[in-house]
Amino acid sequence: KFNVFNISQLMKERLPKRIMNLLRLFGAFGSELKMHTYVVGGFVRDLLLNLENYDIDIVVEGDANKYGKYVAEQLMIKYIPHKKFNTCSLYFKDGFRIDVATARTEYYEAPAELPKVEVSTIKKDLYRRDFSINTMAIRINQETFGMLLDFFTSKSDLENKIIRTLYPLSFVEDPTRILRAIRFEQRYGFKINKQTEDYLRRTVEGNYLEKVTGPRLREEIEKILKEPNPLKAIKRMGEFKIITHLFPYTYYTPTLEKDVEKLFEYYEIIKHKAPIYTYKVRKLHLLFYILLQYTPNNSLKEIQQRYGLPGEFFEKLDQAKKAYQTINEQKEISNSKYYEILCTFNNEQIIYTGIKVSDNKKQEYTDYLNKVKEIKLKTTGKDLKEKGYKGRQIKEKLEELKKLRLDEKITPDQEKNYI
Ligand code: CTP
Repeated sequence: KFNVFNISQLMKERLPKRIMNLLRLFGAFGSELKMHTYVVGGFVRDLLLNLENYDIDIVVEGDANKYGKYVAEQLMIKYIPHKKFNTCSLYFKDGFRIDVATARTEYYEAPAELPKVEVSTIKKDLYRRDFSINTMAIRINQETFGMLLDFFTSKSDLENKIIRTLYPLSFVEDPTRILRAIRFEQRYGFKINKQTEDYLRRTVEGNYLEKVTGPRLREEIEKILKEPNPLKAIKRMGEFKIITHLFPYTYYTPTLEKDVEKLFEYYEIIKHKAPIYTYKVRKLHLLFYILLQYTPNNSLKEIQQRYGLPGEFFEKLDQAKKAYQTINEQKEISNSKYYEILCTFNNEQIIYTGIKVSDNKKQEYTDYLNKVKEIKLKTTGKDLKEKGYKGRQIKEKLEELKKLRLDEKITPDQEKNYI
């Protein structure tokens, strides 16, 4: 027993014509090959939530590669098989991509003809997935176009804003789902339900996150950071004690949480003011600086390797720690002194230092960053060369001039008196 809804009208209202036409076409190709054809997953979820999402995942009850090849021939588009997973991708000329998979099941027989209600295969495929809200399928074959199959009361979970796994071992089977649950919860303002929360907590306590490879976890964290409100998700990770299972030497205390809050606050401030091109800021590095700032030195190597961080990652963190300590120790710091401390820093180091300087220094620090962005020397390396400066001398002279300018000891026109 399961719910079926005809949503073809809703699709017509909400989807762009191009997408509608594509779905109809892909369904028709499925019918020609006598395969039940569905669009599934995130696309369906977001369609019902009335959110834009045109990542089309097609599932066929049949051979996905046979289907993919056929569609590619008919439309003269590019077909890329991923044989290992029995899936393929189809690329349109403009780069638009559609993924195709075979409905996965233990034993499978291709139906000779399209039976009227043969749904067990797609049902098994959907049952293996992460959360109920991601397990709806829309049939797109001509005869049944727009038939929403809801096997697991997904539609009602969407309406009640619930994140729910379908079976008890879901998180154990794939612990990255722990982070996905939190991501979806924050993205949609949903809530992980009690039962699912119990499973989640037990999986965390059972040290299953430790079994996942670093790159897979890192990828999930990156995805969280790309969401509009990552702070809430990270707090939730703290609440579920996930952080300690990702970084064994990190205790997610209220003090640490304050730093995480400051990260996002300061990031917003600095985005508009500082000499920072925020699109070049690796948010993941920044978050890791915060979360790993108290990790003892002898464990850093292991963490650096696990998450594939650059070799000099912790050296850079260390430099930034020293920088904010120096800044906080001193009463007043001239712009030229700031320059000496910060001139070799990358964006993440600059932001991290800004988070960690004491409150009474924050304004001074931001002012410096603005100032250094504004100042353009009148003198160029070429000018100095003409005057007989060589190699290092040039660099040193330019720095000297910059410091004089930063402290407003000279005007642009006075630069020439110093060379
Ligand atoms: N999936 C899963 N377990 C995972 C990852 C994915 O079961 N660890 C399933 C989900 O049902 C999901 C589908 O695979 O709907 C596709 O995954 P993905 O593209 O990562 O997710 P979307 O739901 O499309 O989410 P997003 O909007 O973030 O792209």
